Amino acid sequence: MATTRNVAVLVGSLRKDSLNRKMAQALIALAPPGLDMRLVEIGSLPLYNQDYEVDPPSVVTAFKETVAQCDAVLFVTPEYNRSVPGVLKNAIDVGSRPYGKSAWSGKPAAIVSVSPGAIGAFGANQHLRQSLVFLDMPAMQQPEAYIGNAGKMFDDNGGIAVESTREFMQKFLAAFEKWIERNAVARPPALAAAKNDAKDAKVAVT
Ligand code: FNR
Repeated sequence: MATTRNVAVLVGSLRKDSLNRKMAQALIALAPPGLDMRLVEIGSLPLYNQDYEVDPPSVVTAFKETVAQCDAVLFVTPEYNRSVPGVLKNAIDVGSRPYGKSAWSGKPAAIVSVSPGAIGAFGANQHLRQSLVFLDMPAMQQPEAYIGNAGKMFDDNGGIAVESTREFMQKFLAAFEKWIERNAVARPPALAAAKNDAKDAKVAVT
């Protein structure tokens, strides 16, 4: 029997009515049975500060442990000024340190970028790939998902109203499932430091 893979879904917008959050939730609803996809919230993470590495806040430890225990990561992000929103870059930085103790290492990843504009947040999608190379996260190359004109993309129930996009996203998720199988790595043992902190921390996984 095929293994169910846990996928952490990170959204690069904190906005309540975020189009990217809607897309993430729609993708979770469309996920094939082999993918257990959950939103991992990043809005309560502190701004990265190397001084915290010695004794990190519990929310950081819990976030890193949540990422470490997933099999793969799906980034769903807008583009800010042709690049990755600071809140998402911060989460990536927080999860990547201390040096040599990155929670991201080896995890297969995929990127969906969503914008009300015409070019589908291409710049953010590509800039994010640059970080994933350094983080040693194999990022699915095809299909690419630059979702433009997203202002009218979702119906009142949060589903993807545009049929061609919905079908495309189903294909995207099927390809991601295969990508995860091809690139899967064993989950690490629980981070020692996380054992006591994680149960009390406030990283929401929904
Ligand atoms: C934007 N927006 C934007 N859109 C785009 O396609 N390319 C860009 O470079 C930018 N730059 C940008 C910078 C900043 C600071 C903001 C706040 C917005 C518009 C952006 O795509 C739009 O607000 C989306 O709706 C943001 O995504 P969410 O919050 O709906 O997920």
